[in-house]
Amino acid sequence: MQMAGKLMKAVQYSGYGGGAGALQYVDAPIPTPKKGELLIKLEATGLNPVDWKIQKGQLRPLLPSKFPFIPAVDVAGEVVSVGPGVNDFTTGDKVVSMLGSRNGGGLAEYAVASIKTTVKRPLGVSAENGASLPIAALTALQAIRDSAGVKLDGSGKEMNLLITAASGGVGHYAVQIAKLGRAHVTATCGARNVSLIKELGADEVLDYKTPEGAALKSPSGRKYDAVIHCTSNIPWSIFQPNLSPNGKVIDFTPNFMSLASTFVKKLTLSSQQIVPFIVSGNSNDLAFMVNLVNEGKVKTIIDSKYPLEKAADAWAKSMDGHATGKIVVTFGE
Ligand SMILES: NC(=O)c1ccc[n+]([C@@H]2O[C@H](COP(=O)([O-])OP(=O)(O)OC[C@H]3O[C@@H](n4cnc5c(N)ncnc54)[C@H](OP(=O)(O)O)[C@@H]3O)[C@@H](O)[C@H]2O)c1
Repeated sequence: MQMAGKLMKAVQYSGYGGGAGALQYVDAPIPTPKKGELLIKLEATGLNPVDWKIQKGQLRPLLPSKFPFIPAVDVAGEVVSVGPGVNDFTTGDKVVSMLGSRNGGGLAEYAVASIKTTVKRPLGVSAENGASLPIAALTALQAIRDSAGVKLDGSGKEMNLLITAASGGVGHYAVQIAKLGRAHVTATCGARNVSLIKELGADEVLDYKTPEGAALKSPSGRKYDAVIHCTSNIPWSIFQPNLSPNGKVIDFTPNFMSLASTFVKKLTLSSQQIVPFIVSGNSNDLAFMVNLVNEGKVKTIIDSKYPLEKAADAWAKSMDGHATGKIVVTFGE
């Protein structure tokens, strides 16, 4: 399909800051796939907190690479053309992809994706469920399997995990993935989500607004081998008494204090650690998660859906920090 020179609807921002109010609904050129890339007609795009953190300038000077910038990277759709050297995908393939964070592009009718971070989407995985997966589910998977060391086939010893903000995009996948590895899961969330998080498999759930929840104490008295830390601003002094002798806090929002603390713990040879974490996009892990959803072993909770022209409302909802599961932008037929 020849798209060069044609326009598409897109949502972009032109500088740092301004939140949802700075998003502009515009006409933009349809991008052209280069070597090893696909052009995807988008059906759904999942939002993540990193999208608005980039807009706030928290990752400057690395991101974004330029202004105006079309944000968001978690997408699902249909391949409409392929760049040179692409043999494993063809037009008409339904796919899930994690776009490159430097160029973004998810809040638009069309986006270019690298084949290295794109997988085919079986019929059993809807576009909305597929677009919810890349950043949130890969973060949960890599943190639990690689950083915490849970064996997902259940062959390892039972580990005690604490998952904070288990009702969020990352946390709700983390609960389900941890249970696949037969970990014992203590979770925190707000009162309104306690029964949902139990249904997803958590063994015990703490309301984070109660004194017990704020203290992160396991009701059954367990000490945590790893904390999948999906929220922020919890001091080490709260974690430390709840950790097993080799317990680790896998920290998704490392800041100067947590990095300094990691360094001091290395110097003092303490076995309890804060482990800074950054998700890595790769097609093997994405295919693994797509397959788990297709097999019905992991489900996606969708908080809310918005059409592209209302993407600013989706953005504001994400910035508010109270989504249950994933916020998704969907595209008409
Ligand atoms: N380093 C990386 O590679 C990486 C990758 C992915 C995500 N992250 C980061 O990880 C964090 C979580 O991402 P996400 O997508 O899961 O966020 P999210 O979906 O926006 O999380 C929202 C949820 O967090 C809950 N929550 C807020 N404060 C809480 C607290 N103190 N205790 C328990 N629950 C609390 C909210 O519950 P209520 O509504 O009840 O308050 C809500 O359900 C973000 O900061 C994100 O940037 C980092």
